[in-house]
Amino acid sequence: MKVGVFIPIGNNGWLLSENAPQYKPSFALNKEIVLAAEHYGLDFALSMIKLRGFGGKTEFWDYNLESFTLMAGLAAVTSKIKLYGTAASLVMSPAIVARMAATIDSISNGRFGVNLVTGWQRPEYSQMGMWPGDEFFSTRYNYLTEYVQVLRDLWGTGRSDFKGEHFTMEDCQVKPVPQVPMKVICAGQSDAGMAFSAKYADYNFAFGKGVNTPKAFAPAAEKLIAATAQTGRHVTTFVLMMVIADETDEAARAKWEHYKAGADQVAIAWLGEQGAADTRSGSDTNVRQMADPTSAVNINMGTLVGSYASVARMLDEMAEVPGTEGVLLTFDDFVAGVRNFGERIQPLMRSRVGADSPVPSRAVAVASAA
Ligand SMILES: Cc1cc2nc3c(=O)[nH]c(=O)nc-3n(C[C@H](O)[C@H](O)[C@H](O)COP(=O)(O)O)c2cc1C
Repeated sequence: MKVGVFIPIGNNGWLLSENAPQYKPSFALNKEIVLAAEHYGLDFALSMIKLRGFGGKTEFWDYNLESFTLMAGLAAVTSKIKLYGTAASLVMSPAIVARMAATIDSISNGRFGVNLVTGWQRPEYSQMGMWPGDEFFSTRYNYLTEYVQVLRDLWGTGRSDFKGEHFTMEDCQVKPVPQVPMKVICAGQSDAGMAFSAKYADYNFAFGKGVNTPKAFAPAAEKLIAATAQTGRHVTTFVLMMVIADETDEAARAKWEHYKAGADQVAIAWLGEQGAADTRSGSDTNVRQMADPTSAVNINMGTLVGSYASVARMLDEMAEVPGTEGVLLTFDDFVAGVRNFGERIQPLMRSRVGADSPVPSRAVAVASAA
């Protein structure tokens, strides 16, 4: 199973809690995390784009770096790990995104790919006069469909004459083209989002669900399998999960309870409002899940709470779900989290034995004997 890290490009990562580690995003922090991830043989790092935070006492996500420029810096200091940046398609012209991606392809020597998002939070765009109106909630993936075709033209041939409802290209040229085919990822979960991924993406990212219910995301993986049956393309699922691990199940559980006790209710209320604003995307969008108040302290991300061994076991269970190629991990504390993943969790994972990583052979031997 492939493993990636969803790096903290925004303050406090993915915990909306006064009791969680409080930190601002910086290049230095993300460099430390990605270099550790590379050292432990993780396959990729992804950064999101977020243009407006949720406020509250923790000023959640009010501080965010920009994804492409951050990944360009990280590309220059890494050599092996794959890197994905996120394009806010509403406010970034595809011709510029194609050129930025080709630039990072050059910096990284072919290790870069692009996450395409339509945007789900109106204030990110309305604050700069770039929200097209609420009908966009239902037409988002038509827009992204045109967008990705322009990108594919430009990356494939260096030229686009695409004519559509949203984009009109006139002998548009972007050279050089990337040295390897540019990978496109998408995290669409609505019917329209999944259909988009099945037709145009290389990988689809799904929200994990629940606490210590590692296979609860299986319906999303099944839905993608059904969508790819329509397109005949090979697109696999990667699952977003938060890992809260410690020496024992009890110690990890205590941390999780502590984070929940400090939930930033103002930031969570903002998230709820933004989720409710989209009344047009259908009931199956991730945004509904994110905004669900039951466990909004980490945006209702699927969460694995337990000892290193328990987390390794649950990650192995995830790998058994048909259509699943990997996981995308977040941590309560990213620096310690990636290190503990590399040293304590990964060596115990059956689904990672044989991974191209500098895991000490003694630990692997112990894991396979267990
Ligand atoms: C791993 C992952 C990364 C995402 N990154 C972003 C992002 O950077 N910016 C953003 O606005 N939305 C992001 N999203 C939201 C998705 O693009 C998508 O809008 C959401 O999952 C809802 O699905 P839908 O668009 O099909 O309704 C992300 C979701 C996941 C699971």
